[in-house]
Amino acid sequence: MLLRNVLFLGVGFVYFASPVKNEDFKKCKDSKFCLLHRDYASSTKSPNNLQTNYIIAKDSVNLINSELSAHIINSAQNVTLDLKASFLEGGLVRVRVQELNPPFPRFQGPGKYSLKNGEEGLKKIPETKISLKSVSSQDGYKSHTVAYGSNSKGASLTLSLSENPWSIRLLENDTPILELNTLGYFNFEHLQDKKSQPQESNSTSPLDWSENFKSWTDTRPKGPQSFGVDISFPGSTNVYGIPEHASSLSLKTTKGENRMYDEPYRLYNLDVFEFALDTPMALYGSVPVMLSHSKDRTVGVFYMNSAETWVDISKADVSKVANIYNQILGNQNKVATNTHWISESGVMDVFLMPGPTAKDVFSQYASLVGTTQLPREFSIGYHQCRWNYLDQNDVLSVNNMFDVHGIPYDVIWLDIEHTDGKRYFTWDNAKFPDPIEMQNTLDHSGRKLVNVLDPHIKHDDNYYISKQATEKGYFVKRNDGSDYKGWCWPGDSNWIDYTNEEASEWVSQQFSYDRYNGSTPNLFIWNDMNEPSVFNGPEITMEKDNLHFGGVEHRDIHNVYGMLVHKATSEGLRKRDKIPMRPFVLSRAFFSGSQRYGAVWTGDNAADWEHLASSTDMVLTNNLVGMHFIGADIGGFFGNPSPTLLTRWYQLGIWHPFFRAHAHIDTKRREPWLLGEPYLTHIREAIKLRYKLLPYWYTLFYEASKTGIPIVRPMWVEFPENTSTFDITSQFMVGSGLIVAPVTTEGDSVTQVIKFPKEQIFFDFFTGESILGPETKDIPTLLREIPVFAVGGSIIPTRERSRRSSHLMRNDPYTLNIYASSFKEIKGTLYLDDGNSYDYTNGGYIYREFVFKNATLYSKEAERPESEKSAEYIAFKKSKKNIRVERVVVKGMRNSFTKAIISENGVNREVEVTCTQKISGVCTVRDPGVLITEDWSIRLIQ
Ligand SMILES: *[C@@H]1O[C@H](CO)[C@@H](O)[C@H](O)[C@H]1NC(C)=O
Ligand SMILES: *[C@@H]1O[C@H](CO)[C@@H](O)[C@H](O)[C@H]1NC(C)=O
Ligand SMILES: *[C@@H]1O[C@H](CO)[C@@H](O)[C@H](O)[C@H]1NC(C)=O
Ligand SMILES: *[C@@H]1O[C@H](CO)[C@@H](O)[C@H](O)[C@H]1NC(C)=O
Ligand SMILES: *[C@@H]1O[C@H](CO)[C@@H](O)[C@H](O)[C@H]1NC(C)=O
Repeated sequence: MLLRNVLFLGVGFVYFASPVKNEDFKKCKDSKFCLLHRDYASSTKSPNNLQTNYIIAKDSVNLINSELSAHIINSAQNVTLDLKASFLEGGLVRVRVQELNPPFPRFQGPGKYSLKNGEEGLKKIPETKISLKSVSSQDGYKSHTVAYGSNSKGASLTLSLSENPWSIRLLENDTPILELNTLGYFNFEHLQDKKSQPQESNSTSPLDWSENFKSWTDTRPKGPQSFGVDISFPGSTNVYGIPEHASSLSLKTTKGENRMYDEPYRLYNLDVFEFALDTPMALYGSVPVMLSHSKDRTVGVFYMNSAETWVDISKADVSKVANIYNQILGNQNKVATNTHWISESGVMDVFLMPGPTAKDVFSQYASLVGTTQLPREFSIGYHQCRWNYLDQNDVLSVNNMFDVHGIPYDVIWLDIEHTDGKRYFTWDNAKFPDPIEMQNTLDHSGRKLVNVLDPHIKHDDNYYISKQATEKGYFVKRNDGSDYKGWCWPGDSNWIDYTNEEASEWVSQQFSYDRYNGSTPNLFIWNDMNEPSVFNGPEITMEKDNLHFGGVEHRDIHNVYGMLVHKATSEGLRKRDKIPMRPFVLSRAFFSGSQRYGAVWTGDNAADWEHLASSTDMVLTNNLVGMHFIGADIGGFFGNPSPTLLTRWYQLGIWHPFFRAHAHIDTKRREPWLLGEPYLTHIREAIKLRYKLLPYWYTLFYEASKTGIPIVRPMWVEFPENTSTFDITSQFMVGSGLIVAPVTTEGDSVTQVIKFPKEQIFFDFFTGESILGPETKDIPTLLREIPVFAVGGSIIPTRERSRRSSHLMRNDPYTLNIYASSFKEIKGTLYLDDGNSYDYTNGGYIYREFVFKNATLYSKEAERPESEKSAEYIAFKKSKKNIRVERVVVKGMRNSFTKAIISENGVNREVEVTCTQKISGVCTVRDPGVLITEDWSIRLIQ
């Protein structure tokens, strides 16, 4: 949480709420480097007649060690830059540009934090598979073409480098799909040695490197070091990604005549109080990944930089650009989306991801930064949070009320007030006299506890964490070398320097049960305020000229700081048990790679309909760029939702991967039973639906952890050819099998317009009624539920018995829900493991594939590497050997069936089948007596 308007009175403070203070946050005009590059771009001549200062040096192009290298000369300033393009497994190309001989080192980028196996872990394509061809043109310059492989559809991939001005094109067969500097916006501020410059006293002269914002001065001792580059997506009308913004799924234009925003999208992790909607303003997290999708293909870029970054988006001047392509390549490109990326420091480092399908791009990106860690199973259940559950009795009474009202839940949360004076790792002993007993009681009903733990440390010699961290020198430093101090929840605070590996490791050790008093294996953690939020800092964060380990400026690593907090916490939880267990840690700040450490949420939203609608745009955007385990605070953090709004929020929230209710300390209590009827019933039914579908969710999480595929998906990911859904969020996919259409307007009865974008049968999830697509249909909707449709061809596993928590469902039987289709293969999967340990990494899991064809359901083992048919596999399979499929329901059957023949282990037996043709042909096989761990078939007979 954050309170922006905080008055500090001694060590305490009071606060008052008011909407976002736009003037607290920079606009492009407040940032010298943003202005510089925007101006440079507008001064660059049209693409027909490009003239820039950046040209490839004659005869400097080489292909060595699977890497194309060249020197770029800035003729105006006589500076040489080094360009390297390396060719990676999966068809990716990494393009890096930096100074050849800087007077002092530049920050080399966040690769060691962001890339899953660090810089050393990237796998290059063998040089034998790469060839370079150089051709001279009339003007004396050359163009160089590197053929380096083919994509998943067999099209060839080549990279072409032009010399004057330098530019790079990635081509699929002969069609350009991604381009760098074809608009000539590339501009690079080289480092200067301040001492060698003539001293001037005039503070407005460019040699005064400091920069002011409001009452703060950034001394910028290393001087200007920014750069900008254009990245174009030929043939693309829609681009997505670059969270986190409260903006639309399909990104809006920020330049050009019909631009939708005047400001560029900004990436700079910030704690924004009562953030506004529909703006490109920066928020809590940054993922510098952009995807482009068109009917023909999906491509993407990962722009790996952790400094403040601005991104402009525009649509191409169609006629001119098309002309050039036609001249150069002889083909048509009618449209393009152009983007301009501007960063304050570091090196230019862009990974080009050629697709060609969305699923290819997801796995290409995952090959760089990794995937969402498979979460603890309980953490995909329902989380009950508020600032604050007052004391131990409050926690236990809320816990009890869930049982009284028959609502399942898994986790109750404690915010900052549980601590002794905002000293993390401690308890307020008056309010929580026996935290261990409290956690044990929760454990008895299969539930967990989460405590908040922030990166600011109360400055207090009598607080062991503060004392030890001070003595060991683990805090972030001011630029004079002293420990940096600022204000946050505890008043005067210091910030742990998580870039110092020793400090990070030390924090991890504080989670051991003997150090963290009152903690049990049932306790998990929430990292808030880790942008980092500093109440009295510039833009509510830390000064950019603060120093981290090894003299690295905060400016260079700002956007990864929160991820490093998340990482240290996650490692601490993993290591506190003798046999490591999967951690659960929620973080507010994030960067590319955070998905390896746990969940995130969309921050401090508000209890209104617009925020409810916006949550889906934000959750889908993050899912497209690998941040899968995300949700929005149910009900809205600030303000009091009406019962209808809260009901609709639960009905949507169950379909977001992370499912937590949360509320500000000033709001009214809003646990579901406080709403009364009919809301309580509707909310209970919604939460129970989430629990019924946990087998489907857990399987989706497993598949995301293997392949990088999003858990929730924009429609176009599953229906890539129908342009009518490319920019909608009024409906979205959960996995490939379900379509969800949130209700985001007031009123008990509304009509939803739903798109069924393909020739396919779609089934109303609640009534079973079928609809034949392609079609657009008005769907009347009551307060009872929001529209959900199953896609024909899906098999969705559920567990239908109502329990108090996910843990208590672990040995329940399954139901298989089959949605028939004559348009595609009918298939589904089911994954299960112990939900807690890492045994699954050694084969301790069951992964089944179900196929329904010719009126027969087959269950077989899904693909599993030979190495995973291990002792862990055998042991786990044995532990689940009694779990049955208790029901098979087939929807969309035209024929009626009377019995089924079950074949298992070569033995056949007959069971009864009941069919009803009432709605759309539903046949049910009750208790077929088959086991989830075994191979079998069930054949329906007329
Ligand atoms: C450019 O720099 C190089 C070395 O950095 C130097 O040798 C050369 O004289 C410079 N040329 C001009 C025109 O300043
Ligand atoms: C400082 O530089 C500015 C702009 O170059 C100029 O207008 C101003 O007169 C200078 N002031 C002094 C004291 O030299
Ligand atoms: C933890 O609890 C023990 C026993 O109650 C106490 O002696 C110790 O000082 C506590 N440690 C911290 C760090 O508070
Ligand atoms: C695309 O989807 C819409 C529904 O959103 C449908 O009306 C239209 O027929 C579909 N187009 C094609 C070519 O399938
Ligand atoms: C479908 O099943 C029937 C028996 O129910 C069998 O005779 C037929 O050969 C099967 N067809 C295919 C294509 O497997």
